Amino acid sequence: MNSYIEKVKAMNKNCEAPPLAHVHNYGCQLNVTDGEKLKGLLLRMGYGFTEIPEEADIVIFNTCAVRENAEERVFGNLGFLKQYKEKNKEMIICVSGCMTEQSSVVEKIKASYKYVDIVFGTNAFEKFPQFVYEIKNGRKHLYDNSGPGSTIPEGIDQVRSSSFKASVPIMYGCNNFCTYCIVPYVRGRERSRAPEDVVAEVKELVSQGYKEIMLLGQNVNSYGNDLDGSIDFPELLRMINAVDGEFIIRFMSSHPKDAGKKLIDAIIDCEKVGNFLHLPVQSGNDAVLERMNRRYTSEQYLGIINYARSKDKDFTFSSDILIGFPNETEEEFADTLRIVEKVRYSNIYSFIYSKREGTRAARIEDAVSYEEKQKRMQRLLELQRNITTEDYKKYTGRTLTVLAEAVGKGGEGTLTGKSSEFIIVNFAGDSSLIGQFVKVKITGARNWAVDGELVR
Ligand code: SAH
Ligand code: SF4
Ligand code: F3S
Repeated sequence: MNSYIEKVKAMNKNCEAPPLAHVHNYGCQLNVTDGEKLKGLLLRMGYGFTEIPEEADIVIFNTCAVRENAEERVFGNLGFLKQYKEKNKEMIICVSGCMTEQSSVVEKIKASYKYVDIVFGTNAFEKFPQFVYEIKNGRKHLYDNSGPGSTIPEGIDQVRSSSFKASVPIMYGCNNFCTYCIVPYVRGRERSRAPEDVVAEVKELVSQGYKEIMLLGQNVNSYGNDLDGSIDFPELLRMINAVDGEFIIRFMSSHPKDAGKKLIDAIIDCEKVGNFLHLPVQSGNDAVLERMNRRYTSEQYLGIINYARSKDKDFTFSSDILIGFPNETEEEFADTLRIVEKVRYSNIYSFIYSKREGTRAARIEDAVSYEEKQKRMQRLLELQRNITTEDYKKYTGRTLTVLAEAVGKGGEGTLTGKSSEFIIVNFAGDSSLIGQFVKVKITGARNWAVDGELVR
């Protein structure tokens, strides 16, 4: 890999001005970290960066396959690139990430988007510099089809988009095969990073001043299953919590089938981890959960919630909810509303089911209309809005520790950030506080956020 990086760098040195790269990430945070690694490689190859695809010499769309609309956006935006490439024949266009692990997508690109130069999958970092080199040397197209692979890309420097929030993948892939989901097909089987590599990366980030460390995996609770059995996720959490420094630890996602008392105890014991858990339930109905192959019942799920709240009554949860799994009945959907009411999430991320070719659910004939699913989505969102607004009232008068993240909607002089409970907090403050922890006294609740005042 290094020799190709040097070769491309030497070619780029001959340009009048440093060539520019545009990397656009779709999808989840894991994709964002992959994009940051690609940027790290591009930087070493002598590229600068631009947010404007039109002025770029190399464009990468790092894609997501989880829902149809994500894929449609990519194809739409690829269509736009055609005119730029006509103006700048030297422009190199690359499509990477989860979509490219589906042969139907690669075929579609080959047939209808011939101006795309390089198509490479979720595990081709090592080969990327070589691909760029070959295209720069006159090769017409490169379509990598090596599959999601098994190696873990260690030691690739990242160009991180934030100077105080950092994502750290702890594992790649997924073994769960929920029947609706494409991720196991495009990301391959679970591979855990060695704990010492994860801890070393966290130490390095903290020493650089990072304040939020987000541990990533499709199911962090199966961390270590593929190692020698000497470590699991709660233990990793404790190791990271023991790293010296002022920072907060977050993580996602947790599969309820593997979330137990050990995880909750670790969250409660670790002072750098807020008493908060994103625990996607997907559905509140046991028959639907079974059809989804989620491997827990609503009762088991509520057992985890109750255990956490028995330790800390304010333990907060958020969730992903999948609406309209094929043939979900009104009564089954009503169970989802019921579980949402019981748990009282601080927030939910809800998605209308999108058929993914190759998954088991794609073979089911679905009798429920899209309009009906949209109505269910509205009902769910309205219920959750009321719960959030009501629940957030309890924070009024309390002082929360908040990581100030950005200038707020009110413009200069206002700030927005997240508390350790992962609640959005808006308050007045100077932009020099961005990237720091501050104490904010909560003065009121609104939809999806709370307002407060800085405590000096
Ligand atoms: N590994 C994570 C989820 C990753 S995908 C987990 O299991 O929690 C993020 C969310 O996208 C899922 O929780 C699910 O709600 C949603 N999702 C996955 N496949 C989908 C599909 N085919 N249609 C609509 N939403 C989907
Ligand atoms: Fe998809 Fe299920 Fe794996 Fe999450 S756990 S990535 S929903 S298969
Ligand atoms: Fe999308 Fe791939 Fe993430 S399918 S959600 S970018 S793992």
